[in-house]
Amino acid sequence: MSSNSHDCIVVLDFGAQYSQLIARRVRETGVYSQILPFNASCDEIMASGNVKGIIFSGGPASVTTEGSPRPDKGIFSLGLPVFGICYGLQVMSVMLGGRVESPEHKEYGIANIDISASSPLFEGVSRNSQVWMSHGDRVSAIPEGFVTTASTPSCPYTAVEDRRRNFYGVQFHPEVVHSLEGQKMIANFALGICRCRADWNMGSFINEAVEAIRAEVGDRNVLCGLSGGVDSSVAALLIHRAIGDQLVCVFVNNGMLRKGEAQSVLDLFGKNFNIRLQYADAENDFLEALKGKTDPEDKRKTIGKLFVDTFYNEARKCGDISYLAQGTLYPDIVESRSPFGGPSATIKSHHNVGGLPSDLKWKLLEPLKDLFKDEVRDLGRQLGLPEELVNRHPFPGPGLGVRCIGEVTKERLDALREIDAIFIEEIRKAGLYGEIWQALADLLPVKSVGVQGDERTYREVCTLRAVTSADAMTADWYRMPYDVMQKVASRICNEVSAVNRVLYDITSKPPATIEWE
Ligand code: XMP
Repeated sequence: MSSNSHDCIVVLDFGAQYSQLIARRVRETGVYSQILPFNASCDEIMASGNVKGIIFSGGPASVTTEGSPRPDKGIFSLGLPVFGICYGLQVMSVMLGGRVESPEHKEYGIANIDISASSPLFEGVSRNSQVWMSHGDRVSAIPEGFVTTASTPSCPYTAVEDRRRNFYGVQFHPEVVHSLEGQKMIANFALGICRCRADWNMGSFINEAVEAIRAEVGDRNVLCGLSGGVDSSVAALLIHRAIGDQLVCVFVNNGMLRKGEAQSVLDLFGKNFNIRLQYADAENDFLEALKGKTDPEDKRKTIGKLFVDTFYNEARKCGDISYLAQGTLYPDIVESRSPFGGPSATIKSHHNVGGLPSDLKWKLLEPLKDLFKDEVRDLGRQLGLPEELVNRHPFPGPGLGVRCIGEVTKERLDALREIDAIFIEEIRKAGLYGEIWQALADLLPVKSVGVQGDERTYREVCTLRAVTSADAMTADWYRMPYDVMQKVASRICNEVSAVNRVLYDITSKPPATIEWE
């Protein structure tokens, strides 16, 4: 694997979200990082490549509880620097002979540490740096050989270290943005203490990935399902850079795409990037299959099955195929083997072409499987993907089918396409697109009375929804400025004759989901 040639920091996963954030922060310093389960053996850790240091992540458990997660104790004899964060500090402390207690007083929120001794971890960090504390337990006695380098009034051992053995620990979370100089501390560990080379960037990744794809694929052919989303687009461009016309992309128009989307995918990938593109206009098949169906699960299953059938039919026209390319990302890999699970595995399962016949004998090619989403975006930019596509809001595989509540018909989809286009256009014009995780419109199978000109109308209702979120697992409704809402509502009623009433959804997730279905 190409990433093996880089110096690497291994992050041991004591709680999935914590470890991913730490690994991303390490990569932001230009150093490659990998996440392994907390119980990975020393051999597994060392097999990750050119390992120069190990970070123990935070996690939700208490070390004072029987059976709480423990790393391989051989780690402390590898001669590598170790950095324990929150739970990571606590577990390191007890394993090396210190003690941890569960005090009455828990500390959550912003605190200012008092750095009392010079430390390579705090090189260039201000003495009373602001950090984010979030812990129930705390260290009550440090192991032999350790000294305290920072404290807060309620946490005497906020930062400790044994510089001789290169073991460091902090009770706060340097990986979160509220720890104002946390990134500096992570860089101090990776670059200063571990002496890693900062050679991880998307420019060098492209060259290595291209070589790796060529070596793997040889003169065989690769098939890639193109959805118009970021991940499949970047995967296709990267593979195309490596093997040119040995890549063929399949793009299925299920009739539930956004306004102008099919054409823009054809233009961008077919004409602009000159990628071999097998296009299936299956709109009528999908509409036919969905006729009379109103149950959300029934609709989803119908769309999913027909997609697989269509994709497979198109694939058969593409000649001799050996590989199926997928835009699997690193969080999917981490979460599928994490002892704690995690958010994106569940979300992303929709994306991939699941349900294909098992006798296809295609091997999987997953060139993005080492990358986080922000790295994929960066890679996309470097490969020439337009900014609009790089920063696109997520869009579900079944498309507007899950936003046309009730029966899906061509007329209703066309109306929804117009509504969606107006909504997104106005959000972009107001400069709000980047602040919003996802903005969507739904058409409800509910009619209400209105009046337009002198005429009484009886038409359907549409809802608008915009949310902020970090990972789609939870979401808050976006406080859309009134003047933007007003403009959108008035344009929709003027330009889309199928509706006469516009609602704005002010429910968070939970209890609601992002999509209405
Ligand atoms: P919910 O509605 O469950 O959605 O809050 C969470 C996120 O997942 C997206 N989503 C999908 N993405 N295929 C996809 O590729 C799907 O079938 C699908 N269903 C939901 C949704 O848009 C939101 O970002």
